[in-house]
Amino acid sequence: MSTLTAPSPTETIIDLLAPLWIETLGVPSAAPADDFFQSGGHSLKAMLFVSQLEKDHGICLPLSALVENPTLGGLADYIRSNPRLQHEAVEPFSIDGKETQIQYLLRYNDPDKQAMRNAAYESYYAQALRSKAHAEFCRQVYGENYGQHGMADFTQLDAMLDLLAPEAGDRLLDVGCGYGLISTYMAQKTGAQVVGIDLAASAIAEASERARLGDLPLEFHRMDLQQIDFEPESFDHIVSIDTIYFTRDQRQTIRDFHEALKPGGKLAIFRTFPKRSFTSDTWRPDLTELAVILREVFGDYRAVDFSAEENQHWASKLRVLDSLRDDFIAEGFEELFVFRHDEAAYEAGIQQFRYLFTAQKPFREA
Ligand SMILES: C[S@@+](CC[C@H](N)C(=O)[O-])C[C@H]1O[C@@H](n2cnc3c(N)ncnc32)[C@H](O)[C@@H]1O
Repeated sequence: MSTLTAPSPTETIIDLLAPLWIETLGVPSAAPADDFFQSGGHSLKAMLFVSQLEKDHGICLPLSALVENPTLGGLADYIRSNPRLQHEAVEPFSIDGKETQIQYLLRYNDPDKQAMRNAAYESYYAQALRSKAHAEFCRQVYGENYGQHGMADFTQLDAMLDLLAPEAGDRLLDVGCGYGLISTYMAQKTGAQVVGIDLAASAIAEASERARLGDLPLEFHRMDLQQIDFEPESFDHIVSIDTIYFTRDQRQTIRDFHEALKPGGKLAIFRTFPKRSFTSDTWRPDLTELAVILREVFGDYRAVDFSAEENQHWASKLRVLDSLRDDFIAEGFEELFVFRHDEAAYEAGIQQFRYLFTAQKPFREA
């Protein structure tokens, strides 16, 4: 991949763009005044041009930039004046304008915080399946009660399964499986053998007992995602639904996932990025450290945007919880109500960005 060293003069960028311009449009030459759309470019060619530009040169151009700057010279000028478009020139994306996501995760997962959070999850899992109000909450928010604590509803889960396309007999690892009901859903829907891991002992005990009584290919282990302990190349798929936040070392965790995948194996990560000081103009998934790490470890990745759904999700959680408050209290589950309500009240108050990231481990060279 050839890249630009920022700041690069417009002429250098024109030289870099010209071969792709010529190839995409099928024209004999390219001059600064040439207009993409008047030279035979249509929307599909524009999309191809933009995606190839990222692949070949690490320049991540919004399609609208090409529409608004259709000449080769104008486009080069636009790229010159927006150095953030170039991966190599981009600083790791800041979570609050002060620290990187990796610094944030380190602080968020220091041992004391992790111990407190894990105690909260233990207590959550010890109560949630016993509460009728919580079951009703999950039904109204997610469509069905699978004891969910993440943010993925069935539309998102099915979109992920469509992208991974597990086949009967494939081995799939569900990282942060909680009660294992989503693992069960995936095993039922695809015929894959699902292995679930979670740090919460109460959740794994419940999941293991259910697996023992049922006849699906499911197994569960209490395991920290920061120390996964599986043979290399033992999974066809790894999914992490709202759990990647809990590692102090995102890069190492992604490397561990890569090692545990078979050649050709696929990874799916659902993750929300709290916007905090970002604006929708400065936000882009390819600028996140997760994207940088996926590109570094897997070579490439895809990101599917679920941000609109995420914003609706938290508003809906808050509304449903408020309507069920008396039911939680009548059952004696006020602590459970407060645990969910505090989180929803906070998250519904900030604009969210949510993406499903997928990546595939390359097949071995023949
Ligand atoms: C937001 S919940 C998501 C649960 C489930 N995937 C879902 O979508 O409903 C996060 C899960 O990660 C688990 N967890 C937290 N830290 C972990 C760690 N270090 N290793 C493994 N699991 C962890 C929690 O116990 C919890 O079950």
